[in-house]
Amino acid sequence: MSTIPTVTLNNGVRIPQLGFGVWQVPDDEAAAAVRTAIEAGYRSIDTAAIYENEVGTGQGIRQAGVAREELFVTTKLWNSGTADWTGQAGRDAVLSAFDDSLRKLGTDYVDLYLIHWPRPMHGSYANVWQAFEQLLADGRAKAIGVSNFGQEQLTRLFETSSVVPALNQVELHPHFPQHELRAFHAEHGIATEAWSPLGQGKELLAEPPLVAIAEKHGRTVAQVVLRWHLQSGVIAIPKSVTPSRIKENLDVAGFELDADDLAAIAATETGKRLGPDPQGFDWN
Ligand SMILES: NC(=O)c1ccc[n+]([C@@H]2O[C@H](COP(=O)([O-])OP(=O)(O)OC[C@H]3O[C@@H](n4cnc5c(N)ncnc54)[C@H](OP(=O)(O)O)[C@@H]3O)[C@@H](O)[C@H]2O)c1
Repeated sequence: MSTIPTVTLNNGVRIPQLGFGVWQVPDDEAAAAVRTAIEAGYRSIDTAAIYENEVGTGQGIRQAGVAREELFVTTKLWNSGTADWTGQAGRDAVLSAFDDSLRKLGTDYVDLYLIHWPRPMHGSYANVWQAFEQLLADGRAKAIGVSNFGQEQLTRLFETSSVVPALNQVELHPHFPQHELRAFHAEHGIATEAWSPLGQGKELLAEPPLVAIAEKHGRTVAQVVLRWHLQSGVIAIPKSVTPSRIKENLDVAGFELDADDLAAIAATETGKRLGPDPQGFDWN
């Protein structure tokens, strides 16, 4: 089993740098996938209320038989709730959505709770953050963070709260490396976590320069891309329901990308997202 490095968040909590994502894994397949992942050596699982697989994820966690305190469980607040999360009603809706996630997961705390999307057009994420602060103070979320936030929204949180998000989970892979946001995070002590770290297993994994680097190291392209994340200081949460890939994606120790490799990977940047632009995203 490989030893997964950890990143220390700004409140001292440690998160494995490589975790297991379960977006698009149906609830009735999530238990098997999560159990396989934990048995393979993953200790961090990333789910969300909207994935509708918190029940299966919780079952997989229990079936794997690893002590809860050895695992790092992340879930996320979905966009819905009261209309736009304003006022006391908005904060109450957040706390009730959190309770619902805990109940489905079958745990009494999460290691990390994230605001899934900022929905800047509603202007209410700072109010949501107040409810998150309460969950942190209660110890029911060991760390709190955000997802898909831009610099403007992070700056507003700095102005309205003394709790800096521990982490921002954003789309990030060699095609879309988020240089500016990563520098901003580093400046403010926010960890960067990559969603779709493998570019959703699409064109990225067929990039000729990446194929060449993989051949050079006797590795797969997915392993090269995950190695790139780790060497960049980014936390990555690749998803797979294929047992051989679940293991492959964890086996990224024992080789190092050199300066030539890193330059070739940097040259594959396209600046194109696979997902929506968070600034305009308001799906319910
Ligand atoms: N916060 C957000 O808004 C947000 C948005 C998107 C995703 N996420 C999180 O990030 C996680 C990962 O992102 P993602 O699921 O979008 O994409 P991803 O991890 O980049 O890619 C997953 C895809 O790649 C395939 N794959 C995995 N390992 C492979 C390998 N070694 N070789 C070839 N193909 C491989 C998988 O296929 P199989 O499963 O068929 O093996 C799947 O189709 C999600 O599961 C979720 O937890 C968060």
